[in-house]
Amino acid sequence: AMSLASSSDKFLLCLSIHVPSQLVLTPTSPSFKPLLVSSIRNAKFVAPATARPPLCILTPTKASHVQAAVRCGRYHGVRLRVRSGGHDNEGLSYRSQRPEVFAVVDLAKLDAVRVDPRGATTWVDSGATIGELYYAVAKAAPGLGFPAGVCPTIGVGGHFSGGGVGLMMRKYGLSADNILDATIVDADGHLLQGKEAMGDDLFWAIRGGGGGSFGIVLSWKVQLVPVPPKVTYFSITRTMKQGAVNAVTKWQKVAPALPDDLSVRVVVQKRQANFQSLYLGNSSAVVRTLHRQFPELGVTRADCREMSWLQYVAYIYFGDAINSSPLEALLLNRTMPLGPFVKNKSDYVKKALTKAAWQKIFTWPSGAADGELILEPHGGRMSTIADTDTPYPHRSGVLYNIQYVQLWNDNGARGNNSTPNWINGLYDFMAPFVTKNPRAAYANYKDLDLGVNKVVGGVTTYESGKVWGERYFGGNFRRLAMIKRKVDGHDYFRNEQSVPPLLLIR
Ligand code: FDA
Repeated sequence: AMSLASSSDKFLLCLSIHVPSQLVLTPTSPSFKPLLVSSIRNAKFVAPATARPPLCILTPTKASHVQAAVRCGRYHGVRLRVRSGGHDNEGLSYRSQRPEVFAVVDLAKLDAVRVDPRGATTWVDSGATIGELYYAVAKAAPGLGFPAGVCPTIGVGGHFSGGGVGLMMRKYGLSADNILDATIVDADGHLLQGKEAMGDDLFWAIRGGGGGSFGIVLSWKVQLVPVPPKVTYFSITRTMKQGAVNAVTKWQKVAPALPDDLSVRVVVQKRQANFQSLYLGNSSAVVRTLHRQFPELGVTRADCREMSWLQYVAYIYFGDAINSSPLEALLLNRTMPLGPFVKNKSDYVKKALTKAAWQKIFTWPSGAADGELILEPHGGRMSTIADTDTPYPHRSGVLYNIQYVQLWNDNGARGNNSTPNWINGLYDFMAPFVTKNPRAAYANYKDLDLGVNKVVGGVTTYESGKVWGERYFGGNFRRLAMIKRKVDGHDYFRNEQSVPPLLLIR
């Protein structure tokens, strides 16, 4: 008798025709689990939440492998999760909350960085990390850099897809604002090489509209930006006794209005404020400027360190440890020791909080858990870009965004991955002080508490997506959903927070 193979078997068989077998790992392989956890950055998602493992993990080395995954997946009803750096806050690049059969397309092997120093551009593959990008750019094109995030192990694919906030954004905008071109595998498995092939709408959507919704971006062409031979870093910590509350209250108005080559972000933790700078120039100028505009901080020459931009991107992440290790640390293996459990949330602030509110925040009881707020100043170039130029709508009028981070350990309580209440209590407290109707959030600081999609008749409903989608994308959400209908109307690329197709019913 003939046995009817399951759709999973048929999918694997289909893949085996188009992709070398050593690039497809199934759970029976001893290398499967190490590969699955290789880029997981949140202990919450190692176990037991990933109890339902992917059917397989594919590590393509060519575009045609990605195309085969999409075609085989569409044909046999197996969905894909695409992973670049694995830093998704909710782990959606390698896990599904729904009981569905899915495969992971892990782009780690597609990590080429091709710098054109004379043209001041670079083609970077999605599987590269931003640390690899920074390193390659600085080595091949001294005097040039690229605006992106702080943690060097972040993947280019997810980071660019969701925007890319970093310390050069006040001067040059987000990573997404500096993308010139891209190549993508669409929902039909076609390889669209360049923006003409994909059309204006799709090219707009992938520059900030969030990963995992529109296709699998393989490579990005970016505009490099000038950086001076020396930049200036300082890290100044103030306790409450040393006037931290006053300083942060003042910072809210000063930081977004500083010259755009100076960014000062703040980390509030353990009743202290830590001010960290990037100044695209030398220390005498930064001391002069801050002495005039922000005397409360009391910055001196002794607080400042001048270094190259490449040293800077290493230093802000590794701190003094970088003095004893080479800059090649930026190329570190993405398989890092797994840290604690993490929960993140985000907000945008348009009106400065009062000193009394900050007093409350600084003394917010944190219990045993470790919580921090990272305040990232906007203004400068960010406020000259229209809300509709890219899907990232948080532009003019935004003083800064807040990232709430709560870290905790399992304490041996197996499977205890529920979030301690520091972050939720504080988030509730903050509601009156931050953007409203809707309360905004940053797509790259993904938070499933904001809402998850409902699938009806095989397609994600627009109404369910709108709940979280307007918080990330404001009025751009509707346009994203219309583009989704055009490029993936069957909703093949979907997850708990993917953009749904807006079906026009007359
Ligand atoms: P990952 O591979 O998990 O992908 C994220 C999402 O994009 C998933 O939905 C995935 O399916 C999709 N995706 C991935 N590759 C894709 C591709 N090629 N095509 C289409 N979709 C794709 N952000 C920031 O702006 N500034 C910062 O400084 C930081 N710092 C930071 C530090 C740490 C420690 C973490 C964990 C996170 C950040 N982030 C951040 C947030 C970060 O930008 C965000 O998580 C990115 O989406 C991560 O991109 P990865 O490729 O690493 O994630």
